[in-house]
Parts: sequence; C-alpha cells; structure tokens
Amino acid sequence: MPSLAAPPPGPTLAAPRRDAFASTLGAFAATVGSAVGLGNIWKFPYLTGSNGGAAFVLAYLLAVALVALPVMVVEHAIGRRMRLDAVQAYGRVVPRQPAWAAIGWAGLLSAVLIMAFYTDVAGWVFAYVWKSGVAAAGGAPLTPETFGRLAGGTWEPLAWQAGVLALTAGIIAGGVSAGIERVTKALMPALFVLLLVCDLRALTLPGAGAGVAYLFTPDLAKLTGPVLLSALGLAFFKLSLGMGTMTTYGSYLPAEVRLVPNAARVALADTAVSLLAGLAIFPAVFAFGGTPAGGPGLLFNTIPLVFAQMPGGAIFTTVFFVLAAIATIGAMVSLIEVPVAWLVERGGLRRPVAASVTAAAMFALGALATLSQSPLLSGVTVFGKGFFDLFDFVSSNVLLPVGGLAIAVVGGWLVSRADFAAELDRGYATPAWHGRAVMLLVRFVAPVLILLILLNSLGVIRVA
Ligand code: TRP
Repeated sequence: MPSLAAPPPGPTLAAPRRDAFASTLGAFAATVGSAVGLGNIWKFPYLTGSNGGAAFVLAYLLAVALVALPVMVVEHAIGRRMRLDAVQAYGRVVPRQPAWAAIGWAGLLSAVLIMAFYTDVAGWVFAYVWKSGVAAAGGAPLTPETFGRLAGGTWEPLAWQAGVLALTAGIIAGGVSAGIERVTKALMPALFVLLLVCDLRALTLPGAGAGVAYLFTPDLAKLTGPVLLSALGLAFFKLSLGMGTMTTYGSYLPAEVRLVPNAARVALADTAVSLLAGLAIFPAVFAFGGTPAGGPGLLFNTIPLVFAQMPGGAIFTTVFFVLAAIATIGAMVSLIEVPVAWLVERGGLRRPVAASVTAAAMFALGALATLSQSPLLSGVTVFGKGFFDLFDFVSSNVLLPVGGLAIAVVGGWLVSRADFAAELDRGYATPAWHGRAVMLLVRFVAPVLILLILLNSLGVIRVA
C-alpha cells in the first residue's frame, strides 16, 4: 500500500487561494457542525413518532447509506474541485451547460425556506434555556402548558425568533469567527455526553423497553409513500445536502481529506446523535404514558420530564438546552452562509449588509411560519398546510430531494469520471472499491431511489 505521503495533484494548485479548513480533523468537525442540529434532537424524534416508529427509522438509515452518503461525496468533490460558491460551482462544473446553476438557485430558496421554520424552533430552544434556568432557580417549573403557550403565542415566539436571527446574522457578518468555531467544537462532545446521561436515565425508567421496541422493531406495513418521502427528506436535511451547503464546505476541504471515509464518518457521527436523542425521548414517552406522535413539541415536553426524575434535574435541563442552542447555531450559520456567500461574491455586497438583507428575508417568511401556530394565522392554509409545515415540506421533501437528484446526475453522468475519481482521494491512497462503490450508488442507486420515491408520493406510480 502506498503511504499517505503522496503529493496532492489537482487543478487547485493554480486556482486562486481561498479559505480552507486547516486540517482533516478540522474539516470533519466543521462538517459535523453543520450536520448536527435541530434535525437530530428535534426533527428526527418528532418525525419518527409521527411516522410510526421503527419502520421510519429503518427507511431513514437506508436513505442515509444509499442516497445521502453518495450525494455528500459528490457535493464535496464538486466543491473542492470548483472552489466557488454553490451557484457559480454548478453553473460551471459541466462544460457548456450553465443551466445546472439552477441547483444553486434552488439552494438559495431552500436556505431561506428552511431558516423560516428552523429559526422558529431555534427560538423555542433559546426560550427554553431561559425558562429552564428560571425553573432551576426556583421559579415556575416547565410543563406541557409552557410549550403550548410559547409556540401558540404571538409576540413571545416572534421576539425569540428575531433574536436568534439577529445572533446568526451577527456571527456571519463578522465571518465565522475562530472563537465560535472553537466553542462549537468543544461543546459538541459535551452535548454527546449529556445525551448519554439522558439515555441512561430514560432507559432505566420502568417501562422503558416499550420505547426501545418502538424505535427498533419495524412494522414494514408502515412503509407507505409519505413515510418513505419523509425519511428521504430527513436524510437530506440532516446531512445538510441538496442545496449547496456541503458544496460550499467542500470548497474549504483540504487536499488530504479522503472524501469517502470522511463522508462516512460524518454520517455515522450524525446518525449516532439522532439515535441517542431517540433513545432519550421514546423510553420516557412510553414510561410516562405520553404519545409518540406528539408533533413538533415532543422534545420540549419530554426532556424536562426525563430530567425531573433525577436529582438536580432542573439544572440538567438547562444544560441540555444550552448545548442544544449551541448545536443549533452551528447549523444556522451554515444555512445563512449560502445566500450570504453568493450576495458577497456575486452581488458585491459587504458582509454585514448581505447578512442583514438575508436575515430580513428569513424573518419575513419566518414570521409567517411562527404565526401559523398562533390564533392569528392558525386558520390559514396553503395546499392544506399551515406555513410552518408548508415551508418544511417544500424544502425537505421537494427541493432537497430534487436538488440531490440533480447533483447525483451531474456527478454520476455529466462530469468526467476520471476527474471525479481523482478528486475522491487526490492521490492519497485509498482502496479502489471506495470509488467503485460510490460510482455505483451515485449513477444508479441514488437517482433511481429518489425518482421512485418522488413519483410515488406524487401518485404517478404506486410502490407503497
Ligand atoms: N443539518 C442541520 C440539522 O440537522 C440543518 C442544516 C444545516 C441544513 N445546513 C443545512 C439542512 C443545509 C439542509 C440544508 O439541524
């Protein structure tokens, strides 16, 4: 086996210098920092609960391995080769076919739509930092009514959302400062450990076994079209795929990162966090006689209950939400960075201006999402969905899978196979089967699965 010392060949030596992550570990950490967020601790458990449990988990794991993982490799490969923002990268990656820039344009739209509901939920997390802190200091304890009043309110959730957006815009306006990156990196392991504490407590509650069975004993009859589509959409959402975030991050990857093992490690770490969150929440839901289909409030109603069963529980609850808030910031920064990078690189705006404009657009749509749960707009639906659900559905279940399909087609069929294979390891020896396996997944498995699931959910074909 040749060693790692082979020099990195490739066109980037001649390309203009761009920012890059400093090391293989730094690149891994930053990528995990974008992936891990509300998707793990809020969305994964809530979708699992609303879609029937283990069958959804199984579909999700398959979607990660067979579809999301290869798409991540393509995004990183295209990003690292092109070293441009997403719109320009896809506009130039296939010779004489600039229309693929549409992937980047759709990505800008996805970023705004995702942030519209993401910042609503992030606002709840920040509100819970405050409320659980007050409870720990002897104030009013957290109850399910606490969440109902917060999410169903008008000014309170709006104020938290505006605060979260201002914070994110402020961070990104100054560039992703080394400080934030270092803090996020240090606190990720802390989130992991605290999740383990939650798991220990939840798994030793009387009746916890039902929750574990709910997560891991699939009833295949539950794999309907909408369930499959949600699992696929979550796989893209979870790993920040299908809209240019991972392409942009790919452009910061140093030459010595071997793309296949790196992507596999990111997917594994991210999935581990989701499963740990599920193992904290479902045993507790069953032990306390709650309902798994608790919807978006599941996290907020369950975690305080779990910790309430422990000495010092109120303090643990506060620590949990602080860590969740920090994980959320990392993900939001990677979302807002896509339009901001484009406004700066193409539009010539100064970073603070670009950040403010983007945040304002996100707040305009975000207020619609937030108010769709208050009496003010709760009656308003579009295609039968309130704005919160509509933005979530259109981004996760339509734009991201369609973007992922286009990315797989570009990477698998339209760029030179030799270039693509060379980009995977830049000459740092990796086993040849990495390239072959990824090619098989990118060319055939991923596009066919995405297409089948999309057509199935449109009712064009009936698989499930
Ligand atoms: N992956 C993040 C989460 O699970 C959310 C996120 C960050 C995202 N950047 C993204 C989702 C880009 C889709 C696209 O919380």
